[in-house]
Amino acid sequence: MHLIKVNAINSTNSFARELFKENKAVPVTCILAKKQLQGRGQRGTTWESEEGQNLTFSVLYPHPGIPPANQFLLSAAVAAALVQGLQKFGLPKLKVKWPNDILSANNKIAGILIENVITEGQLTASIIGIGLNVNQEQFPHLPAAGSMYTVSGKKYEPQEVLDVLLNELENRLDLLSNQSAAAILQDYKDRLFRFGIPSTFERPDASRFTGIIAGVKASGELIVRTEDDLLQEFDLKEIKLCY
Ligand code: BTN
Repeated sequence: MHLIKVNAINSTNSFARELFKENKAVPVTCILAKKQLQGRGQRGTTWESEEGQNLTFSVLYPHPGIPPANQFLLSAAVAAALVQGLQKFGLPKLKVKWPNDILSANNKIAGILIENVITEGQLTASIIGIGLNVNQEQFPHLPAAGSMYTVSGKKYEPQEVLDVLLNELENRLDLLSNQSAAAILQDYKDRLFRFGIPSTFERPDASRFTGIIAGVKASGELIVRTEDDLLQEFDLKEIKLCY
C-alpha cells in the first residue's frame, strides 16, 4: 500500500478526499499524520490525540465496488480487520462496539470514521479514517477511553502497529468483493460488544430503554429485541449503546 506521511494537517480524511479529487486513478493509499489540527470523529465530534503517542491515519480506497446501500459492509470489514490486527499484540478482550468503536477491556482504544465519495449514485471512493491510541497514558476528559498501553501496560512502536494493521486491512479489502454480505456481517457480529446480552440504549433526547442486540443489517442498522419482544431497527442517529 502506498504511504504518505505528513506532519500537521487538518484531517487525514480531508487530505484523502483532496487526493482523490485530484487523481481519480490513485491507488489504495494510506495517509498518516503526525498531528491533526481538526481531527473528526463520529456523530460530529472531534478526535483528539496526543502528538507522537498514537496513530491517526486514513486509507483512501478508490472504487470499493459495493452498492451505496451496503456501505456498512466496508465499515464492518474494517472493524474486523482492526480487531484481528490488534489481537497480534495480545490486547485483552477486543470487541467492536456498534457501529465501529474498538474496545479492549471495555475501554475505547480506537475509532473509525468512514466517509464516502458518491458520484451519480455510485460509491466512487471510500475514505477509511482510523484513530488508534497506542501509547497515550491519560485521558482526563474521556472516562471510557484508553490506549494499547493503558489496557496492556506495554508500550508499542506505532510504525510496527501500523504495518500490521495495514496488512490486515489490505487482506480484508481484497476479500471484500468475493465475500457474501452474510459472511462479512457474521464475522462482525462474532466480535460485537454486548451481542445477545441485555443492554441499555440511549436516544438523542437522553431517554433510555433496554433491549438485546440481535443483529446488524448490511445498511448498518442495529437490530434490537426490545422488552416488548419486538425486533426493532435503529440507525446511528437514533440510538447509542451505553457501556
Ligand atoms: C470516532 O469518533 O470514533 C471516529 C474517530 C476517527 C478518527 C480518525 S483519526 C484519522 C482520521 N481523520 C479524521 O479526521 N478522523 C479519522
